[in-house]
Amino acid sequence: MTARIIDGKIHAAQLRGAIASSAASLKSSHGIVPGLAVILVGEDSASAVYVAAKGKAAREVGFHAFDMRLPETTSEAQLLAEIAQLNGDASVSGILVQMPLPAHIDAKRVLAAIDPLKDVDGFHPLNVGRLSNGEYDIHHGLVPCTPLGCILLLKDTLGDMSGLRALVIGRSEIVGKPMAQLLIQENCTVTVAHSRTREVPSIARQVDIIVAAIGKPEIVKGDWIKEGATVIDVGTNRVDVPGGKPKLVGDVDFAAAMERAGAITPVPGGVGPMTIACLMRNTLMAAHLQAGLSAPSL
Ligand code: GUN
Repeated sequence: MTARIIDGKIHAAQLRGAIASSAASLKSSHGIVPGLAVILVGEDSASAVYVAAKGKAAREVGFHAFDMRLPETTSEAQLLAEIAQLNGDASVSGILVQMPLPAHIDAKRVLAAIDPLKDVDGFHPLNVGRLSNGEYDIHHGLVPCTPLGCILLLKDTLGDMSGLRALVIGRSEIVGKPMAQLLIQENCTVTVAHSRTREVPSIARQVDIIVAAIGKPEIVKGDWIKEGATVIDVGTNRVDVPGGKPKLVGDVDFAAAMERAGAITPVPGGVGPMTIACLMRNTLMAAHLQAGLSAPSL
């Protein structure tokens, strides 16, 4: 079998188009232009690339974008003061603090300081709870962007996922845990594997869906994959190529997986573009929530 490639760029472009038209109607009917504030603390070059892409995407769908670069030496109190100011600024619908933060700043305290209605990452403890209790789902509320993008790709590929077995590899707050919640909402039977899990390959061989969010290059091998399974690769790992430029690879051995999977996301061009499109979706959603308007159907 040769897998079908799930093209995240095409899906993301469609989603961004729908967001841009919904933003235009929000402006014409209510005079509201969503605004996204992205805060980067420090000089991490990969984070700087992601943050720039988020600001650019926001402007392209007709939002205001506020890019805030703070030095590595910024104290936790200074960052909290910036967040308090953005919480009170009516032109800011969404606030995103790029992770990871420098070690001297307590990320959990920072995330909890963001107004939950402006928490476009869905990382505030109240919003984590709302996803867990089913108040937030893929149509309503603020759900973490990467897992949301993965679910949209899966639904488009598989349709109804009821009863399918899914394996999430990785238990991070950003991807693994919210991914498991969203798959449960889709009526999948979900296993979460992590660094202490035994026999991951044999678990993987039994499932219909694999979501790999480990952060290790090409660790998921072809023979881990059940014939015809759907594989979503969240990994973005930069690896050195002898005598050449570093290249980006996922957590899955793509060439080998192509021979077994039914469908697979490539890296780059799979989950990455969907993450940014879903951030735009959440910013639009936040603007509606703050204005007391019902969620746009996207
Ligand atoms: N770092 C890696 N992924 C993310 C994300 O989705 N949101 C934020 N804020 N930081 C990240």
